[in-house]
Order: sequence, then C-alpha cells, then structure tokens
Amino acid sequence: MAERPAILFVCLGNICRSPLAEAAFRREAERIGLDVAVDSAGTGDWHVGEPPDRRAIAVARANGVDISGYRGRQVTAADFDRFDHVVALDLANLARLRALQPAGSRADLSLLLDHVPGREGEPVADPYYGADAGFDTTWADVTAGAQALARRLAGPE
Ligand code: 4NP
Repeated sequence: MAERPAILFVCLGNICRSPLAEAAFRREAERIGLDVAVDSAGTGDWHVGEPPDRRAIAVARANGVDISGYRGRQVTAADFDRFDHVVALDLANLARLRALQPAGSRADLSLLLDHVPGREGEPVADPYYGADAGFDTTWADVTAGAQALARRLAGPE
C-alpha cells in the first residue's frame, strides 16, 4: 500500500468499546512496527466531546495505555472516504454503518471479531450498563481483534 492505511473503530457511544479498540490497535501497531492512522467514533451523538467512560480509562491504564485525552465524536459521511477500514464493534453498529455509507465511498466495512479465526460474527458486548468486570472482557476482546487486524494489515510474513 502506497500510503499508510487508516482505520476507524466504531461503536455506539464512542466512550467504551471503540476507544478501547483504538487504544489496543495503537499499541499493537506500535509493537509490530506498522505505520497506520487510527481513530474511533460512535454512531450515536450522546457523548460527543466527552472523554471515555472512567471504567474504560481505568482498564486501558491498567494495560499501559492512557486514553484520558480521547474525545467522543460521531461518524460522518466523510469518514467513509478518509478511512480504508471502518471496523464495527457489533452487528447493530455494522448495520448502521452500511446504511450510512455513501455510494462509491472507498471504506471497507467489517466486524472487529470477524478478523479473529473462530470468532466470526461475534459482537464485542456493550459493557456500559454492566459491572466493572465487563470492561476486562471488553479489553480482552478488542485486543484479540486488534492483534488479528494488525497482523493482517502487516501482510504475509
Ligand atoms: P459504547 O458504550 O458504545 O461501547 O461506547 C455505550 C456508551 C453509551 C451508551 C451506550 C453504549 N449510551 O446509551 O449512552
């Protein structure tokens, strides 16, 4: 690829799952020396301009990544041209993205866990209304997806 690939992770609120996917992917890309542009967004607009959920900030911090400076934003039509890969965290958001994608735009849409062999079709569950421990599961899921996607983008060994 001539230019570095650009990846956008998308969930509902952009304060729990997609900022964690962005963080896990940044860390993995750095680890394997992959030059990429990375961002995250939500299909909803309730948390635009807000930092991630404090539980998401805590689990990222526990895993060595500071996401406290991230700010929520909503997906825009321009994102489908700015990003090569728009990666949904669950099927409802993937369906929403398919409906929003302008005809002729270049982004490839996928579900995060479709990149993980054996986990195709699985959502990353929404931890927002659950217990704190749900965020450890979210971190494990987004890390698995981020590692598989980063490896795929890095190309064959
Ligand atoms: P996220 O979680 O989509 O993983 O950021 C949510 C955050 C907020 C809401 C729903 C899900 N909400 O309804 O405000």
